[in-house]
Amino acid sequence: MNVVMIGSGYVGLVSGACFAEFGTRVTCIDIDRTKIESLHKGIMPIYEPGLEQLVKKNILEGRLSFSSDYIGAVGNADLIFIAVGTPSRRGDGHADLSYVYQAARDIAPHLSGYTVIVDKSTVPVGTARNVKRIISETNPQADYDVASNPEFLREGAAISDFMRPDRVVIGVENERASRLLQQLYRPLNLIETPILVTTLESAELIKYASNAFLATKISFINEISMLCEKVGADVHAVAKGMGLDGRIGRKFLHPGPGFGGSCFPKDTKALVRIAQEHGASSRIVEAVIEVNEAQKARMISKIRQALGGTVTGKRLAILGLTFKPETDDMRDAPSLAILPKLLEDGAGIRAHDPQGMQEARNLLPSAVEYFDDIYKTCEGADAVILMTEWNVYRGLDLVQVKNLMTGSVFIDLRNVYERQQMQNNGFDYYCVGR
Ligand SMILES: NC(=O)c1ccc[n+]([C@@H]2O[C@H](COP(=O)([O-])OP(=O)(O)OC[C@H]3O[C@@H](n4cnc5c(N)ncnc54)[C@H](O)[C@@H]3O)[C@@H](O)[C@H]2O)c1
Repeated sequence: MNVVMIGSGYVGLVSGACFAEFGTRVTCIDIDRTKIESLHKGIMPIYEPGLEQLVKKNILEGRLSFSSDYIGAVGNADLIFIAVGTPSRRGDGHADLSYVYQAARDIAPHLSGYTVIVDKSTVPVGTARNVKRIISETNPQADYDVASNPEFLREGAAISDFMRPDRVVIGVENERASRLLQQLYRPLNLIETPILVTTLESAELIKYASNAFLATKISFINEISMLCEKVGADVHAVAKGMGLDGRIGRKFLHPGPGFGGSCFPKDTKALVRIAQEHGASSRIVEAVIEVNEAQKARMISKIRQALGGTVTGKRLAILGLTFKPETDDMRDAPSLAILPKLLEDGAGIRAHDPQGMQEARNLLPSAVEYFDDIYKTCEGADAVILMTEWNVYRGLDLVQVKNLMTGSVFIDLRNVYERQQMQNNGFDYYCVGR
């Protein structure tokens, strides 16, 4: 079986490498020539644990290749996955489908023999049918079906998520397309992965509904964390007590500075737009988005209060910039909302991140100073702010940090440390919801 992956970003590259690992021949295509050139040289365009080894192994074994050209690979493909970006459209929050539709237009002339064209990108209901219309208009002779196969992997654990998913969702119009997709995912039968075959519309909506539900859990516990601070409860005990109920579940009940990343912010907004377009209400998801914005603002107030009401003239050491650990992805990271406000207030910002600094330089104001060394970042700081829970920040030499600082404020937005331990080390310790 020959698979073509259109788009070689976080999803396309990981999915392509994993399908190759399953034994399928895969060509990953991207319009970004520098990305393809670096992949040819064995340089990964993104940071994802285990990806480099997986890609190199499958190139060596002859199953994985890269191209910036649609001709050739597309004509030989049995399955073509569209895994291009679907960012929020500027202004209205709707998913920008221009990359998806352009990919469909680019694929169409090169199709040859029966092919299934699969949306792997997160796309609003109706997109697969629009892709079908575009292909038919561009190449009326083409023999093909469309399908929806949304991706649920998490950055930072993408390979294991892809290889051992909780479920695979396949949206199709007929048995022929379903059989081909099920054949591709056959290696997952061994680990008894549930494969849900449904309609195009249901598959498209499952992805948005899943992400919106997970975002709801995060906003819920973030709002509860505020109540915990007011009433003197410990949000960890509350989350644990809730999560032990099998109907609720323990995951996604960790308070923090608000959700970010390439999916939850844009997908919650897109779901609200989809509902509006179809005359349905989405009041819960609207509230989830509002609570998330409020949580980021609350973190800014927390930082100001910890420093006596103002950060003007204060030197702040920021540990972690990415929206979560084990990724270099800075898209919609809470740091992008919080740091510019602190700079506007007149704070000096020194920052460290194990993988995100290169991208952060493009996205954050130029006044931010970056350091490769964690301890150098903390030098002369009035406060250290732990923003992302990378493992390297979990075992800090607290004595050294304290000695390097001029102040003693430690603001732990991920609740990595225990209050007692921090107080024993001479810190004024602040965290979220406890
Ligand atoms: N990143 C995640 O964790 C994740 C998880 C699940 C689903 N998704 C969804 O998957 C989709 C892709 O996300 P991503 O994070 O991989 O995006 P990305 O921006 O990392 O990658 C998209 C790639 O597509 C390429 N591209 C754009 N138009 C193209 C075209 N016409 N032909 C070939 N290549 C083209 C871009 O150059 C880019 O390299 C989105 O819809 C996203 O919502 C992402």
